[in-house]
Amino acid sequence: MIVCLCHRISDRDIQVEVASGTRNFEVLQDDTRVASSCGCCHDCAREVFDGACAALPLKTAAVSLAAA
Ligand code: FES
Repeated sequence: MIVCLCHRISDRDIQVEVASGTRNFEVLQDDTRVASSCGCCHDCAREVFDGACAALPLKTAAVSLAAA
């Protein structure tokens, strides 16, 4: 799903950024330019970003359990 039409940023792009270590929305904006033009996508982008951050510890724990 495209989240930001101005910069063609998808929910997957945001999830990849979080998976690669981005934990701050402003850093995400610097890296991708999401929600930095018209701003219409800000709430949706923030929601996707927060969801990706919240899911990360669960994924990490699942990987740790699978490796044990
Ligand atoms: S739709 Fe994201 S800045 Fe315009």
